[in-house]
Amino acid sequence: MKQLLIALVFIASVACSTQLYIPTEVNVNKVEPATLTELQQGHDLYQNKCGKCHKLPKPASHTNPEWTKVLQVMAPKAKLNTEQSELIYKYLVNR
Ligand code: HEC
Repeated sequence: MKQLLIALVFIASVACSTQLYIPTEVNVNKVEPATLTELQQGHDLYQNKCGKCHKLPKPASHTNPEWTKVLQVMAPKAKLNTEQSELIYKYLVNR
């Protein structure tokens, strides 16, 4: 019983920390055409630009059409240009 509790606490703590995926070859062209470099740039931009006002949502927390809408609203808030916004989108959907 005690082991079960420890396991649950462990799972909960892992699930709660925002663990952003690090892009690898697996993610290249997965959904949107994107090179590994583009995905790495998207990852960096996402971490640096989107975490200032709130916690970073997980890439899997929204569907791809939802991310398009979210970025339309959030890109101006984060002062992104079109290219930066596209890089973040590619990172988010090639999860
Ligand atoms: C200047 C502050 C600011 C920055 C920078 C910012 N956000 Fe937000 N974000 C907000 C605020 C305020 C809300 C909640 C109110 C709202 O929905 O407008 C929010 C809400 C959200 C939500 C929840 C909305 C929903 O529909 O569930 C998501 C997802 C999100 N932001 C993603 C992002 C992403 C991605 C970026 C980077 C491109 C970003 N945010 C950058 C201020 C910011």
